[in-house]
Amino acid sequence: MLKKGIIALLNNNVNTILSGEVIAKELGVSRVTISKNIKALKEEGYLIDIIANKGYILENKIDVLSQKVMCELITTPLDIHVFDLIDSTNTYAKNHLCDNSKLSLVVSDEQSAGRGRFNKKFYSPKGTGIYMSLVVPINKPFESIKHLTCAVSVVVAKTLEELGSEEVGIKWVNDLFLGDKKICGILTEATTDLETHNVQNVVIGIGINTTTIEFPTDVNATAINIDVTRNEIISGIVNKFLALDNYEVCMREYQKRSILDGKNIDFIHQNKEQSGVVKCINSDGNLVVEVEGAEVTLYSGEVSIGSNQL
Ligand code: BTN
Repeated sequence: MLKKGIIALLNNNVNTILSGEVIAKELGVSRVTISKNIKALKEEGYLIDIIANKGYILENKIDVLSQKVMCELITTPLDIHVFDLIDSTNTYAKNHLCDNSKLSLVVSDEQSAGRGRFNKKFYSPKGTGIYMSLVVPINKPFESIKHLTCAVSVVVAKTLEELGSEEVGIKWVNDLFLGDKKICGILTEATTDLETHNVQNVVIGIGINTTTIEFPTDVNATAINIDVTRNEIISGIVNKFLALDNYEVCMREYQKRSILDGKNIDFIHQNKEQSGVVKCINSDGNLVVEVEGAEVTLYSGEVSIGSNQL
């Protein structure tokens, strides 16, 4: 609580030195307590500068995830769970929120075991990204949601652009790119009713690099760096997604945003490494590739783009 109070005060006075005495008085504690808590916040990674004999200053606002703010910004009632640190928001959603089939949102400031498709790790450092999972009760056959993951990509791309991002491209199936670098990955998982075989809930996991500066060497990524808070981005995505009354309406936009058309790609198909040229994405979101004069349709999987093409 005290740490949140300190952050709120500094955030309201960006680029102004606040003395320990002023902060202490405002929050009703001693200067020593403030000094200890600021030290702890710095150790947690918050960029608070200490000016000797004067006080504390923030150069940039600290972007704090807030359940209250998101609750105000999201226009549909839903349960919101906010964590400082969690293994994976998707794992939490699947283990704890799918039984009661209720529209819910899980958000964390950091993930210790963020997961991507094909069990890859998703780099999820503290405070510089969005790690969110939306649990959506469905209770319908899979056929009715086959366009859902494409729709999510379009929703995220449009939201980011409306909030100030440059043009966002989609790399089949679910990666969002700014130029030749990834800014967002999407992992959609589902729970099934074993009696009806219906999809009971979908867990839509979205990871966005908002301000991350450094990435591991094997990660070809960048940050979107737009001047809005993570609360606004998350709420914008949720509102836009929940406003869709069918997912198929996004397919045109999905096709238009594809960054693969005309590119040489490598992929594994029928257990064989193959290469080909991307013709298009069809109306079901499958990738149509020309391989040695024949057409191959890919329904899932991962493709890599031949070098020097992006
Ligand atoms: C990918 O790049 O293959 C998909 C990445 C999906 C990452 C998000 S972050 C929030 C949610 N929790 C996870 O563990 N994964 C998803």
